[in-house]
Amino acid sequence: MKISSLAIMVAAAAALMPVAPSAREIKIGVILPFSGESAQFGDQISRGMQLYYDEHKSELGKDKLVLIKRDSKNPSGNVAKVEAQELITRDHVEMLAGFVYSPDAMAVAPLINEAKVPAIIMNAGTAQITTMSPYFARVSFSMWHAGYTMGKYAAEKLHYKTAVVGYTDYPPGKDSLAAFKAGFEKAGGKVIDAIPMGGPAQVPDFTPFFQRVKNEKPNALFIFVPAGAHAAAVAKTYNDLNMKADGIALIGPGDITQDTQLGQMPKEAAGIVTSQHYAADLDNPQNKAFVAAWKKAYGANSTPDFMAEAGYDGMAAIFHAIKATKGDLKPAKVMASLEGWKFQAPRGPIEIDPKTRDIIMNEYISEVVLKDNHLAMKTLDTVPGVKDPCKALKLGPCGKH
Ligand code: PHB
Repeated sequence: MKISSLAIMVAAAAALMPVAPSAREIKIGVILPFSGESAQFGDQISRGMQLYYDEHKSELGKDKLVLIKRDSKNPSGNVAKVEAQELITRDHVEMLAGFVYSPDAMAVAPLINEAKVPAIIMNAGTAQITTMSPYFARVSFSMWHAGYTMGKYAAEKLHYKTAVVGYTDYPPGKDSLAAFKAGFEKAGGKVIDAIPMGGPAQVPDFTPFFQRVKNEKPNALFIFVPAGAHAAAVAKTYNDLNMKADGIALIGPGDITQDTQLGQMPKEAAGIVTSQHYAADLDNPQNKAFVAAWKKAYGANSTPDFMAEAGYDGMAAIFHAIKATKGDLKPAKVMASLEGWKFQAPRGPIEIDPKTRDIIMNEYISEVVLKDNHLAMKTLDTVPGVKDPCKALKLGPCGKH
């Protein structure tokens, strides 16, 4: 047989064989803050995403994941919106991910509705965000997970009767106030004052706000601030004003005890109690492996926090969607694959609630303790399988739906 006819026969045989889908590039747009004070948040989430990717990339076969990262710059939502628009129309991303600040996720909702682009929320915590688009799935939290849980715990287990709430004055702060109040008052406590404490972009001087609380003498001061330098300043002001000696306990969501901020707080921060779904000190096998891999990749003095962990879990969700759809990332298929997705995460078992596309996870009541002369988080109690109480119990802003 002549070589040319052999070649034709081989080619003809190949044409009859099932064709493996060719390797392709999957573009994901990642919108996070990468400048100013909040750059630390963008870095933590990016590093969490990268860690999962590095550990699991062989599972994608020949497909290549391309992350196109954009800096959301400030928490207004304006920059994030323009970037989402460009990522969708120019870069043709198949999914979006990231979103530290609630206004960023909220501003992007109409765009993903229009273009039908699935978006994985890796931080932004205002409860209603997931109701703004059927293309949102949230791997982070709703402010109600921590706020409502802390409110109930403060009244039932810590036996506080009165509390004042201080909050950064934008959607997740207002949500935290509503969440804490609902849980605390349901269990018999009373919120006697609520103090707006400026916007998220700048860390305010907390002294005048805390001085007001000192005069009011509640059993507890519940604070929401958007983590970072705000959190360290809260602990410092509480200590400077000697409020522990006044018998006023400092409590809040874990945003005020972010792992990366504990080193910036005075030792007297020991005793703060928070409700949160993640702390680097959580004692479970997945978290031990996660923290060890993190330190190996990013340095022994580096620590993951709840944002980093959400980046890791968010990338796990993206991998799941790619594998479950065999790379055919049609929006409806992606969302169907995410609804009910379960994962054994560093924070414990998680699931995307198929009804709400919000996260179901454990809440840990933790206390800041002094351990080997540094501040650490000690778990006091675990509330398993918490669904966003705003939606599950139809409370506050979710009551109308
Ligand atoms: C938010 O804007 O939703 C947000 C930001 C930082 C946090 C928590 C929530 O620590």
